[in-house]
Amino acid sequence: MKLQTSNSKLQTANFQFQNKACDGPLEFEIGSLELNIVAFCCHYCAYAAADLAGSLRIQYPASVKVVKIPCTGDLDVSSVLEAFEYGADGVMVAGCLEGDCHYQLGNFNAKRRVNYVKTMLRQIRFEPDRVRMFNMSSAMGRKWAEAVTEMDETVRRLGPSRLREKETKETKETRELVQEAI
Ligand code: FES
Repeated sequence: MKLQTSNSKLQTANFQFQNKACDGPLEFEIGSLELNIVAFCCHYCAYAAADLAGSLRIQYPASVKVVKIPCTGDLDVSSVLEAFEYGADGVMVAGCLEGDCHYQLGNFNAKRRVNYVKTMLRQIRFEPDRVRMFNMSSAMGRKWAEAVTEMDETVRRLGPSRLREKETKETKETRELVQEAI
């Protein structure tokens, strides 16, 4: 992961993500858009719903960057925190409807972890609403678009993450706290 300082107040980052939740390394640039939301989507439902929304040409905000994972239960707390550390303004975790996880309890485990991340973020004075869990079936293309729109509105209201701001004493402290938590 490289951080590049741009002329603007915000930094851009090349986010490279690889852990057991992903098939291979995922690289993308964060910071090229005004707002960056990383959406970890389970392959079976949320990812398929996002695909469907695209096929049906349902409009949704371009701020979202989809990362496909086999099941939301595979996503660990540190991966969510890493996304914030590397420049995400918001993180969505989108899985199957409750009771429909292909690995049985994966989405319940994910929900528990998302709530845990919220608690951690609150403790380091980082807005907990920047992370949220969503549930949907593969047929819910419209629900996907609504979820992204809701998340985009929430994050837009909160503004860019302070971890994207040029280094100040406060951002340095927050980054250190996030790194400690990872
Ligand atoms: S397979 Fe979709 S959340 Fe587990």
